Amino acid sequence: MTDATPPTEARLADAQVRNDALAMAAVQDVTHGMMVGLGTGRAASRGIQALAARVRDGELERIVTVATSIRSAELARSLGLSVVPMSDVTRVDLLFDGADEVDPNLCMTKGAGGAMTREKIVAEAADHCIYLIDESKLVDHLGTRFPLPVEALHFGVQAVMARLRAVGLNPCVRPAAAADDESAQPPHYLTDEGNLVLDCAYPDVAAPGSLTLKDLSNAIDLIPGVVGHGLFVEQADVVIIENAQRTELTIRTRS
Ligand code: A5P
Repeated sequence: MTDATPPTEARLADAQVRNDALAMAAVQDVTHGMMVGLGTGRAASRGIQALAARVRDGELERIVTVATSIRSAELARSLGLSVVPMSDVTRVDLLFDGADEVDPNLCMTKGAGGAMTREKIVAEAADHCIYLIDESKLVDHLGTRFPLPVEALHFGVQAVMARLRAVGLNPCVRPAAAADDESAQPPHYLTDEGNLVLDCAYPDVAAPGSLTLKDLSNAIDLIPGVVGHGLFVEQADVVIIENAQRTELTIRTRS
C-alpha cells in the first residue's frame, strides 16, 4: 500500500531538533505518561523527532504513541518511541499533525498524503489536537490550494462519485504517485487501508444556498462506501503557524 508523504527521515541531530521551534512547540505540553497521537507528513515528522528527543533526553517518561500512518509508525519506532496499534486505544491525550489548508475558522483540508481517515479517528479520540503548518497553508476558503480527499471502498466507487457530485463535489480518482512504475498494478493510489482516494474540487461554499462546511462534511459521511474524508471542521484546538523563514511562530486557538 502506498502513502504519498515524503520518505521517512533518518534521525536528525539533537541540536537540529532542539532548534526546530515548530516541532518543539508541538510537544511542549506533553507530560509523563501521556498517550500521544502522531500525525502524518512533513510537519508531523518534525514533531515526532522532537518528541523522541525529549524522551531520549529523559525529560519525558512512560510516553506511548499511536500513529496515523504506517510511515509515521515506522519513523517513531526507528527513533525509539513506543507505538501501539490504534485498535487497542480508546483515548489519546494529545495529537499533533499537519494540514494542507486552514481557513480563518480553523477548518482544514487534510489528506494530501492520504492519511485523513486514520488522522480523523485519532483526532476524535484526542483530548487536545494541535496542527502544525507553514503560513502558505492559510487560506480564505478551503479548496484554494487543494482538493478535498474522500477515501472510498473500490466496491461501488462509481455510485459514490455520483453521490459526491450530487452534493456539489467534483471527484477524480487519485492516480498512483507519478514516481511509481506506470505499469504497476493497481494504477490508483491506495491508502494504508487499501482504499481509493477521490480528490474532489470543493463546491462554492460561499454561494447563496450552498451547504455549510459542517453540513458538507455530514453529507459526505452519510454516503455508503465512503470510509472517511479530509474535511476537518471542528477538530483543531490549536494551529501553530511558522513563517516562511522558520523564524517566527503564530498560534491560533479555537475560541
Ligand atoms: C496526510 O494525509 C495529510 O493530512 C497531512 O497531515 C498533511 O498533508 C500534512 O502536510 P505536510 O506534509 O505539509 O506537513
